[in-house]
Amino acid sequence: MSNPRYEVFPISVPVSDEDVTNYSRLRLLGLKTNPEAFGSTFAGESTNTRETWRARIDTKERFTVIARLVTEDGSTKDARKEWVGTASVLTPEMARSASHVLVGMWVHPEHRRKGLGKRLIEVGIEWVRARTEGMTVERRQLMLEVHRGNDAAKALYGDLGFVELKDFECHDAGRIPLFVVAN
Ligand SMILES: CC(C)(COP(=O)(O)OP(=O)(O)OC[C@H]1O[C@@H](n2cnc3c(N)ncnc32)[C@H](O)[C@@H]1OP(=O)(O)O)[C@@H](O)C(=O)NCCC(=O)NCCS
Repeated sequence: MSNPRYEVFPISVPVSDEDVTNYSRLRLLGLKTNPEAFGSTFAGESTNTRETWRARIDTKERFTVIARLVTEDGSTKDARKEWVGTASVLTPEMARSASHVLVGMWVHPEHRRKGLGKRLIEVGIEWVRARTEGMTVERRQLMLEVHRGNDAAKALYGDLGFVELKDFECHDAGRIPLFVVAN
């Protein structure tokens, strides 16, 4: 095997069967590996049916971005493709919010500090920017909630220009709301 490289891309809707499988595996691995980072739990989602997983990502109200490791075999030209990171943006309608909302951010521990988290969010911000041109500032905002103690995530979001959203209370007092305007 040679030439390992990363690709970052949004899942196309309607989703394929293969994408449903890959997404559910990646999400469950994230919940199992970093339970402290999420509001949902592995126990809660491990019983999801295939149709539940499909319904989650098979909608234009959710933009799910994937980071994939591609390793090509120099002699056979075969390529092994492994999903290693994800983040999703929910529309304001889906999130029942004035703004777009970033959820489900996770990168596999073996692939961290390679810029994938940043690339995943940048693709999400660009999607928000393109679909909200000329709209109100609330709609152009991408917001998220992060645990106060999650220094890695807070550093990543800070690098991308996210700042604390005032006058907003997270349901969970252990979290803080951050936002960036997708300009
Ligand atoms: C947070 C997380 C997504 C970061 O993913 P990543 O791919 O490692 O992030 P990147 O490589 O794009 O990092 C970009 C920048 O963010 C900052 N950063 C990321 N991880 C950091 C860490 N552990 N410590 C300090 N700064 C960090 C750095 O400034 C980094 O730039 P640098 O590597 O050039 O110094 C990853 O650690 C993760 O999946 N954690 C568990 C799940 C989680 O916390 N999700 C967020 C829920 S709100």
